[in-house]
Amino acid sequence: MSEKMQAAEEKETAGAAEARLLDMRDVSKIYEIGQVQVRALDGVSLVFQSGELVVVLGPSGSGKTTLLNVVGGLDRPTAGTIRYGGTDITSLSDGDLGRFRRDHIGFVFQFFNLIPTLTARENVEFAADLVSHDSRQTEERARELLKLVGLEERADHFPSGLSGGEQQRVAIARAMAKDPDILLCDEPTGNLDFRTGRQILGLLQMLTSEQGKTCILVTHNTAIAAVGTRAVRLRDGRVQSDEGNASPLPASQIEW
Ligand SMILES: Nc1ncnc2c1ncn2[C@@H]1O[C@H](COP(=O)(O)OP(=O)(O)O)[C@@H](O)[C@H]1O
Ligand SMILES: [Mg+2]
Repeated sequence: MSEKMQAAEEKETAGAAEARLLDMRDVSKIYEIGQVQVRALDGVSLVFQSGELVVVLGPSGSGKTTLLNVVGGLDRPTAGTIRYGGTDITSLSDGDLGRFRRDHIGFVFQFFNLIPTLTARENVEFAADLVSHDSRQTEERARELLKLVGLEERADHFPSGLSGGEQQRVAIARAMAKDPDILLCDEPTGNLDFRTGRQILGLLQMLTSEQGKTCILVTHNTAIAAVGTRAVRLRDGRVQSDEGNASPLPASQIEW
């Protein structure tokens, strides 16, 4: 076993001992537009553990993106606390919150958001370089990750020369570049046909079950709940239900 793998395994064991990775308590987010207040999140309390693939379901406007944004430190809640291990990220300064986000959170978006002037490899290296400035290390990390997502042979293609599914796989490799504890995925299959969507969901299943990542996937597509280890339903910014799924369906078998 390589030193790197051993280190990863030790990290996972430590993660298991401290499974309560993320703890949201009474989190609310109110947007004010002129005199109008929009309660995008309304007293949400959720605990996320290492290795979970949590599918957060809700219709458009139910607060899914807001949930990811406050958990990922892209936005601050109006009230409540969000703890990672011992740190309440709501009390961090802007600079510390930015560093926290850079080092610990991987984002995956519906429209991939790759940098169009960089190749697949360079997109991943660019993200890896934010955390380590050792160019040999970032090159190796990018190569490993593109292999993990099955795109070694496309490494030198620009996003415009890749299919939607391939672009999303690059985006997942990019999100993994910093070896984050958490992947936050906002409608990751929303712009893909269902066959390609299955591959993306399979990749997320692998990253949670084999690498111990925690994935929070938000979607309006209720069929996707079947592949998760847990389903949370949001409505009008509130948690309607929160249910474990003891036997997630392999993504290759999902129909929608
Ligand atoms: N930046 C913002 N400013 C004002 N209102 C917002 C903003 N972001 C989201 N909202 C409102 O908050 C509610 C939840 O939005 P959102 O989290 O994007 O829902 P979803 O992702 O489930 O479609 C909606 O009513 C939306 O219009
Ligand atoms: Mg949304």
